Amino acid sequence: MRIAIIGTGYVGLVSGACFADFGHDVVCVDKNKEKIVTLQQGLIPIYESGLSDIIAANSKAGRLSFTTDSSAVGQAQVVFIAVGTPASNNGGHADLSFVYAAAREVAAHLNGFTVIVTKSTVPVGTGDEVERIIREERPDADFEVASNPEFLREGAAIRDFKLPDRIIVGAESERARKVLSEVYRPLYLNAAPLLFTSRRTAELTKYAANAFLATKITFINEIADLCEKVGADVQEVARGVGLDNRIGTKFLHAGPGFGGSCFPKDTTALVTMGQDHEAPMRIVEAVVAINDQRKRAMARKVVCALGGSVRGKTIAVLGLTFKPNTDDIREAPSFVLTRTLMEMGARVRVFDPAGMENARAVLNGVGYTESAYDCAQDADALVIVTEWEQFRALDLARLHRAMRQPVIVDLRNIYRRDEATRHGFCYVGIGKGGR
Ligand SMILES: NC(=O)c1ccc[n+]([C@@H]2O[C@H](COP(=O)([O-])OP(=O)(O)OC[C@H]3O[C@@H](n4cnc5c(N)ncnc54)[C@H](O)[C@@H]3O)[C@@H](O)[C@H]2O)c1
Repeated sequence: MRIAIIGTGYVGLVSGACFADFGHDVVCVDKNKEKIVTLQQGLIPIYESGLSDIIAANSKAGRLSFTTDSSAVGQAQVVFIAVGTPASNNGGHADLSFVYAAAREVAAHLNGFTVIVTKSTVPVGTGDEVERIIREERPDADFEVASNPEFLREGAAIRDFKLPDRIIVGAESERARKVLSEVYRPLYLNAAPLLFTSRRTAELTKYAANAFLATKITFINEIADLCEKVGADVQEVARGVGLDNRIGTKFLHAGPGFGGSCFPKDTTALVTMGQDHEAPMRIVEAVVAINDQRKRAMARKVVCALGGSVRGKTIAVLGLTFKPNTDDIREAPSFVLTRTLMEMGARVRVFDPAGMENARAVLNGVGYTESAYDCAQDADALVIVTEWEQFRALDLARLHRAMRQPVIVDLRNIYRRDEATRHGFCYVGIGKGGR
């Protein structure tokens, strides 16, 4: 099949590369000239393991190309819209301006029967509006609009795209369903369930899934707070709870609150969607509020660990990205923590294996360092915010020698208290009440 992808960000680039790897002919379009030039030079603008090899192989085979010219859509049988849908300033609604602009550009170049698919996460009814826009621009065009929300996770994007738990296709006609079946045929031959729904159902399914996962995280975070008060251990509680097959162990890791490019904006968008339709999403409203407060509360944890004040103290922050194995820093808890500590009078030094370049563009006033040990040098406390693999087995003796005060605040529970105290550290984890 000939596929065009509008928007070559995390989702567009991974989808385009994987579709090409299935054997489809793919052109990835983006407005950002710098990004396209980078890709045309064989370089990858994002950090995603395994992606560069797939892009190189498929570009070489002539199945994958990159352009800023949206007229490439004219050659395609299927056009995926994978542009950003950030939170707008308008009370938490998703900003759909990029989606609608893309729809107009696509409309201008349609040529023969084409299925236009929103892969971006969009509120219910967006597909209707995309259809209306295209119909208005091109009353003569032969097209269908479908919804195919994406569930990949940054850091495991290739695996998630190629071995998905499910593929949701929201389409209103048999013609559209047939085309999308063909696009995904290589995957459901591997037994990935392809779920056909209405367009609106598909749009809502994505928000419901993200809100549920965010709720699971927030739930265990609150249980962690209670563990600290009553002398229980949240990791053991989570394991005991998660081994129940009805619940499952995933997304039950207590931490500093969720961040990233999806959960924060998607939960607030679902809340506003509920309000707009007089079906309040009260659980999700609480999740959003609790999570916002939690990010600042993590700074208070550091203050407590240092005896009540961080003024004039040096804090080493390990991990800036919202999770490991990505360079994405959007809505990362590390930023709220760092800024709050600085407001409280601390000096902050930071290190992240992949997020430093992105952080430098938005986070001023901190000391950027070269390694975890460099970051810890002369620090009064070491705060682990993101659970990168390379932070899991630090040489604690070396850290102890480097630091001014031996204090570790481990917001991901990647160390054991007895191990840290054996090396002379005062150790504070999450949800670790009692001894
Ligand atoms: N990042 C994730 O992990 C993830 C996972 C699932 C779903 N999603 C959803 O997928 C969508 C895209 O997310 P992302 O993280 O890939 O975004 P992103 O910001 O990384 O990329 C969006 C790209 O679209 C381009 N763009 C915007 N308007 C354009 C236009 N008119 N024509 C061509 N290019 C245009 C931008 O230049 C940018 O490169 C969002 O709705 C997001 O919620 C993201």
